[in-house]
Amino acid sequence: MQTEVLIVDPQSPETIPIARAAEVLRRGGLVAFPTETVYGLGANALDAAAVRRIFEAKGRPANNPIIVHVAEVEQARQLVAVWPLVGERLAVRFWPGPLTLVLPRRDMVPDIVTAGGPTVAVRMPAHPVSLALIRAAGLPIAAPSANRSTQLSPTRAEHVLHAMQGRIDLLLDGGPTSGGLESTVLDLTSAPPRLLRLGLITRSEIEAIIGPIVVSSAPPTGEASLPSPGMLPRHYAPRTPLECAADGSARVKELREAGLRVGRLALSDGGEIELPGVTTVRMPAEPSAYAAQFYATLHVLDAAGLDRIVVDLPPDHEEWLAIRDRLRRASTPP
Ligand code: TXA
Ligand code: MG
Repeated sequence: MQTEVLIVDPQSPETIPIARAAEVLRRGGLVAFPTETVYGLGANALDAAAVRRIFEAKGRPANNPIIVHVAEVEQARQLVAVWPLVGERLAVRFWPGPLTLVLPRRDMVPDIVTAGGPTVAVRMPAHPVSLALIRAAGLPIAAPSANRSTQLSPTRAEHVLHAMQGRIDLLLDGGPTSGGLESTVLDLTSAPPRLLRLGLITRSEIEAIIGPIVVSSAPPTGEASLPSPGMLPRHYAPRTPLECAADGSARVKELREAGLRVGRLALSDGGEIELPGVTTVRMPAEPSAYAAQFYATLHVLDAAGLDRIVVDLPPDHEEWLAIRDRLRRASTPP
């Protein structure tokens, strides 16, 4: 399969590429597109055969359900059996935006989207290209991140091409995504609601709207059916072994002395002498700026032929928790 690439203006997407991509979706094809978090790999959410192709392209296990993207609250309500008041209040506050809500599904949602489960995850992305595409297709769009299963999420069109060229019909290239980290996933089917995946919207931002929620702990190992496979211990990982270090500069020095080729994601407090032979990337000290560059930096270091990537562990503060969560999964050995 040839993957067609169309450039699209991220702020005011042109009609022609959007119409072409919408047409591909309507006839059951796969379209990668930018969202405000990461690039998604979309298919018509109501077409089981089209969604099956997503699983094939990603090498995704069939027990991992997919988020359905909508352009209106009404479109989300059509997919769910219950639209609770807490859902309405969260949608008013955070949609369009990086919050995914898990709710009881309606029968019209194919089993393959929900991995056979009784719930469906819905979100309204805050990217003009995503919204224009969903509206032009006139369909809800099932879309996981556009990477091969368990690997780094794509925040630029080139990351998508690298992983998916020849596996998908079309890529809308809208430039780098701004958020850089995946959406927060919140399960509204349990009381109190349960945070399944940390993301760009924090626990306290959610609690300010709906009161106390709980954070799901990792499932016991060996459990057959996971509540949210994004909770898998190893995920979002580069191929190069990655480790976190409280003292990054001491750790890279040690590894250099052992003869390893090392890359480092340093926090930009400055003032340190850079070691020869170590590829150091100074990351922003502000969490949202850090998140925006996070995967792109890991993609670059992963392609640099290194033996090890060392990441300075960001502080244990709420606004860093989603990044610390991704780092923990990325550093889990296969
Ligand atoms: O920011 C994002 O969420 C991006 C963009 C493309 O929207 N999408 C994304 O999709 O990260 P994916 O498939 O890579 O991650 C979706 C997460 C997975 O951890 C999946 O298990 C969980 O959401 N999920 C999806 N449907 C679910 C459901 N019905 N119940 C529980 N978890 C669900
Ligand atoms: Mg993913």
